[in-house]
Amino acid sequence: MAAELIDGTAIGKQIRGELKDEVSRLRARGVVPGLTVVLVGEDPASQVYVRMKGKAADELGMKSDTIRLPATTPEAELLALLDRLNADRAVHGILVQLPLPRHMDAAKVLLRMSPEKDVDGFHPVNVGKLVIGDPSAFRPCTPAGVQELLLRSGADPGGKHVVVVGRSLIVGRPVANILMQKAKGANATVTVAHTGTRDLPAMTRQGEILVVAAGRPEVITGDMIRPGAVVIDVGVNRVEDPKAEKGYRLVGDVNFAQAVEVASKITPVPGGVGPMTIALLMRNTVQAARQAA
Ligand SMILES: NC(=O)c1ccc[n+]([C@@H]2O[C@H](COP(=O)([O-])OP(=O)(O)OC[C@H]3O[C@@H](n4cnc5c(N)ncnc54)[C@H](OP(=O)(O)O)[C@@H]3O)[C@@H](O)[C@H]2O)c1
Repeated sequence: MAAELIDGTAIGKQIRGELKDEVSRLRARGVVPGLTVVLVGEDPASQVYVRMKGKAADELGMKSDTIRLPATTPEAELLALLDRLNADRAVHGILVQLPLPRHMDAAKVLLRMSPEKDVDGFHPVNVGKLVIGDPSAFRPCTPAGVQELLLRSGADPGGKHVVVVGRSLIVGRPVANILMQKAKGANATVTVAHTGTRDLPAMTRQGEILVVAAGRPEVITGDMIRPGAVVIDVGVNRVEDPKAEKGYRLVGDVNFAQAVEVASKITPVPGGVGPMTIALLMRNTVQAARQAA
């Protein structure tokens, strides 16, 4: 029997709807949540993401601002801009869109940002707070979105064995850190697999919930999935397709056609994890405004 689809577009919309009410309450108290996105250079994908983030913030009644800097901007200039944004009380959340041009040190830039405004959740202070279970931490948006997809589709990870494929700082590791917390909506037993894992199929077949963030198109095939598992596919990969209008199509890290026959619930690509990232960025910005107020 084909798996039930987990609709990230609908769940993302639901979260944004809830936030709209909270933004209205904050505005009534004179607090307008403000997000500033900094874009350095002209990377086409980054330009699209930045536009989408600004639009989502505007729709919620937040204050959004995009600062565009040329790719040749000296690093010191970006650091000075961050100092100004850190000091600006109308700015609650700052996001520096990655990737940065090669002459810039992303780790140094990240460290310069005030952890209280780091709505992406990548500053070491927020990473540490997440690991120790401090609720004031900003949780990275995509991993927090994975948890919301599970909870809102009736797949509470509590007590389950979750297998995460991938240990990146952006997805795999924070997903594991979030889902293993001793907390409601988490409390899972988590295994993290990576390229050093000896027998990946044997590992993934143990997952009652399988979260895949490998960045390799369709690397997880149907035979690697435990029958009845819930599959969250974080991957977004372009593969050439001469029949597609743009010459390519998007696929996940999971072979969807095979997985849909084995899993009980599964996220599609696109329309699964993708829409969650922006919804959770909005939530983090509202959290930053609430905490600042
Ligand atoms: N909003 C969104 O939807 C969103 C956001 C972020 C990322 N993504 C997508 O999610 C995917 C993962 O992103 P990322 O930034 O985490 O990628 P990444 O930095 O390339 O990390 C990939 C991880 O997967 C592991 N891995 C790769 N191939 C593997 C294999 N064959 N078997 C087992 N483990 C394997 C790697 O192991 P090692 O550590 O051993 O190298 C690494 O830990 C990408 O497709 C990306 O586009 C989507």
